[in-house]
Amino acid sequence: MNFEDYLRSLYDAVPNRAEEAELYSLTNGGKRVRPELLFSVLKGAGKKEETGYPYAAAIEMIHTYSLIHDDLPAMDNDSMRRGKPSNHIVFGEAEAILAGDSLLTKAFRTAALPHRYAAEIVREIAEAAGDHGMVYGQILDLQNEKRTDVSLERLEETDRHKTGKLLALPLAIGGYLTDHTEDVPLLKEIGETIGLAFQIQDDILDVTCTEEEMGKSLSDAANEKTTYVSKLGLEKAREYCEELFEKTEKQLDSLHFDAKYLHEMILKIKNRKN
Ligand code: IPE
Ligand code: IPE
Ligand code: MG
Ligand code: MG
Ligand code: MG
Repeated sequence: MNFEDYLRSLYDAVPNRAEEAELYSLTNGGKRVRPELLFSVLKGAGKKEETGYPYAAAIEMIHTYSLIHDDLPAMDNDSMRRGKPSNHIVFGEAEAILAGDSLLTKAFRTAALPHRYAAEIVREIAEAAGDHGMVYGQILDLQNEKRTDVSLERLEETDRHKTGKLLALPLAIGGYLTDHTEDVPLLKEIGETIGLAFQIQDDILDVTCTEEEMGKSLSDAANEKTTYVSKLGLEKAREYCEELFEKTEKQLDSLHFDAKYLHEMILKIKNRKN
């Protein structure tokens, strides 16, 4: 079974109204960067991708919930996501909030499996998502709006949390699932740095691409977001991004499994166009 079919299999054949709103945003259209990062660790350590499906699904559910809420009028107020009208445009604001709540809950249901490191994995998921993870970063991001005095340190703190933590999570879980717990701290560090670079790319693409190319509303300027691009300009933001990717590529050498697939994944992210 491929990962897309696996995701669909976690829902009723005839979805109820709650499931319908979740599936609308969850299936089709996401690049699946986070699942691919997990699979690249598994493959490098000689494990099958399928062994990571439940955890990859859980991460993708949390990521999708973060996007549904990120698009709400109270947050970025965006009407297009993954090439389609945003969840709240189709289902209404209240149902979009609930779809996010349910995806977050279902993620824990999906990842709650017997495993030697089950408790560690569930704790990592909660930490990456919550008030020391993505949610904390989203709050900093909102506070950074309409301000000209946001420091580079503060911006890095924002992006390492709002995007870095959920990108580091699949690498950390990969470490547990392959019994390479000695690599978990470094995997998290690498993942967070990739996440920071990923968010800088996102901010670059926000001003250099069209909404059709990105499949989502591009609203950073309208929302007066402080980003690496608004702060440093395009050229310097690109240079910093390049530097971060180079740093992570060097760190791969210290891992205790074959990092070939992870290396390929980093290259793929580095060259992404949307
Ligand atoms: C978008 O993430 C939000 C950011 C963290 C920049 P992705 O670019 O991974 O979005 P999808 O999953 O492909 O839609
Ligand atoms: C938000 O960053 C990342 C999340 C944690 C959802 P953005 O607000 O820049 O993401 P996009 O551009 O809407 O995808
Ligand atoms: Mg946002
Ligand atoms: Mg947004
Ligand atoms: Mg963005």
